[in-house]
Amino acid sequence: MDIRALESEATDALEKIHDAQALDAWHTMYLGRKSRLNAFMRSIGELSLSEKKTIAPIAQAVKKQLEEAYTRREKYIQKSNEGAAFDVTLPPLYPAYGRLHPLTRVERSIRSIFSSMNFSVVEGPELETEKYNFDSLHIPKNHPARDMQDTLWVSTEKGRLMRTHTSPMQVRHMEKHLPPVRIIVPGRVFRNEATDASHEINFYQFEGLMVGEGVTLAHLKGVLTAFFERFFERPMEMRFRPSYFPFTEPSVEIDIKAENGTWLEVMGGGMVHPEVLEGVGYNPQAVSGFAFGGGLDRFAMIKYGIPDIRLFYGADMRFNNQF
Ligand code: PHE
Repeated sequence: MDIRALESEATDALEKIHDAQALDAWHTMYLGRKSRLNAFMRSIGELSLSEKKTIAPIAQAVKKQLEEAYTRREKYIQKSNEGAAFDVTLPPLYPAYGRLHPLTRVERSIRSIFSSMNFSVVEGPELETEKYNFDSLHIPKNHPARDMQDTLWVSTEKGRLMRTHTSPMQVRHMEKHLPPVRIIVPGRVFRNEATDASHEINFYQFEGLMVGEGVTLAHLKGVLTAFFERFFERPMEMRFRPSYFPFTEPSVEIDIKAENGTWLEVMGGGMVHPEVLEGVGYNPQAVSGFAFGGGLDRFAMIKYGIPDIRLFYGADMRFNNQF
């Protein structure tokens, strides 16, 4: 057996090895119990003394060489695997960012625009009383205006209901504050109606109220013109149409002109009815005020071009992640 040939065969084979598994196989083949080298070394015992003396040290040296080469190769493979775990050319793993719901975005924008015009932001209860939701706003029992807003009653005997609009906060706030008053009230409202692309049983409104000496409908127009321009980030054409609400006189519907030229109804509003002012202890001879109420969902739909209100409440991340 040519021990030198075996050595160079083993060393050549080792050079080609790049993983731990192949290295193991190499060890079994060239240094293992059943290897040719091992068999050769056992056969040395049968040789004559002088042959033993020349051959045994060579065989030992080869064995030592191969063992050392094996250890070097093992270290080399470990090192290059460590390198692979830190491949600097890989694209980064981005963390999963949370996102703000489009209604949250719109609400925050409304809050900040009105705050900058010195309106305070106040909130009110979602579970309301019949008194605040209807009576104090001069929507009498059996009046057709109550049918305008299909109510989710919690208790008809106790007069408890889910508020159908944010207008009860006009009264709640004025009862506790003297004029001048300048507030907006964002909040969730509820209506017991069939859902479709533009109706949900719960949605969001924002109420506006400004009361003081000499406040007129022109102020309402001025405030809303500023608001629309800031909110839509472009000048918006707006118009008032005569309408009816029991708690405002005169009452208007407020439309804005969409980019394609069609008029979209976005708010109801008007001058706070003198009897509502009287009801909270204000003197309607001395002060006047305007109020408006807008559908927050509708503003979000127009701003982002969303065709169906139900998308806001579907918890579909493919939708939510677009904002
Ligand atoms: N609350 C009315 C609605 O929900 C809107 C409105 C608010 C009208 C304030 C006039 C003044 O339809």
